[in-house]
Amino acid sequence: MIKKDIILEGNCLNILKTLPDESVDCIVTSPPYYAQRDYNAVEQIGSEKTPQQYVESLSKVFDECFRVLKKEGSLWLNLGDKYLKGSLLGMPWRVAIALQDRGWILRNDVIWHKPNAMPSSVKSRLTTDHEYLFFFTKNSSDYYFDQDSIREPHVTFSETSKMKGGRNHFGKNGSTPENGKNGGSSNLHDARWDQAFHPKGRNKRTVWQVPLSKCKEAHFAVYPEKLISPCIMASCPPEGIVLDPFFGSGTTGLVAKQQGKHYLGIELNPEYIQIAQKRLNDLTDRSENRYDLFDLSF
Ligand SMILES: C[S@@+](CC[C@H](N)C(=O)[O-])C[C@H]1O[C@@H](n2cnc3c(N)ncnc32)[C@H](O)[C@@H]1O
Repeated sequence: MIKKDIILEGNCLNILKTLPDESVDCIVTSPPYYAQRDYNAVEQIGSEKTPQQYVESLSKVFDECFRVLKKEGSLWLNLGDKYLKGSLLGMPWRVAIALQDRGWILRNDVIWHKPNAMPSSVKSRLTTDHEYLFFFTKNSSDYYFDQDSIREPHVTFSETSKMKGGRNHFGKNGSTPENGKNGGSSNLHDARWDQAFHPKGRNKRTVWQVPLSKCKEAHFAVYPEKLISPCIMASCPPEGIVLDPFFGSGTTGLVAKQQGKHYLGIELNPEYIQIAQKRLNDLTDRSENRYDLFDLSF
């Protein structure tokens, strides 16, 4: 039996090797970005001499993740990029392609758009205000994914809009999404008409606008609860276990608990473990059940 709702201290590569095969339902994580920050630990990832070495370090970690993930499980991997000598490294994609080469199925590349990204005074290029969130699975089709739990409201079709959608709408007017009264609506060209008018809302899209949030205890990059909430909602079954091998301040654990699910954290730095433990304890103290955090609107 795998332990749950605990934080294991140490190098995630070593600790992952001690975990049983196919024992966690979902993995949600944000490793240290390449050459970005010093996490004050000898075995930290991110301080490799070359981009290739960084990709290799992460690949080894995600090989172990692949082994411990259940067959129907998913990995959500958040990564940001880096400029070196003025050139963008494309680091998230280097890692994503390496993981594909090692057997992971890449299902989506989500753009995390940060509307409150740090302004920059750079004069010769654009200011970056996005990161990537890759959605990987072990199988190309047979995996757990609760699409309905993260649907978005329809944009073109709604209960109140005149345009009701569906095949009948076009039939009545003798038109199609291509020709006639409603021709040219990009919303309708995106998908089959009946899918576009799914009664529970449209499929969630791949550009997510989520403001950066602050964690007063942590002095390092913490991802927002709202960024990972849909990942855990859709990819972890009720009472399942979400693993985060780079647990940091424990955001993954917090969101898992808020949704009535379990977490397993791994973290190298004991100070961060204390921060994570405090956040998790505070959550338990605040309330046994906090339903307000199920709000997935961005
Ligand atoms: C970007 S932070 C994760 C932040 C986390 N998502 C949060 O919301 O707080 C990356 C974390 O990975 C940890 N770390 C770096 N190398 C590690 C390793 N080899 N094993 C385990 N943790 C490691 C760092 O100490 C840091 O806390």
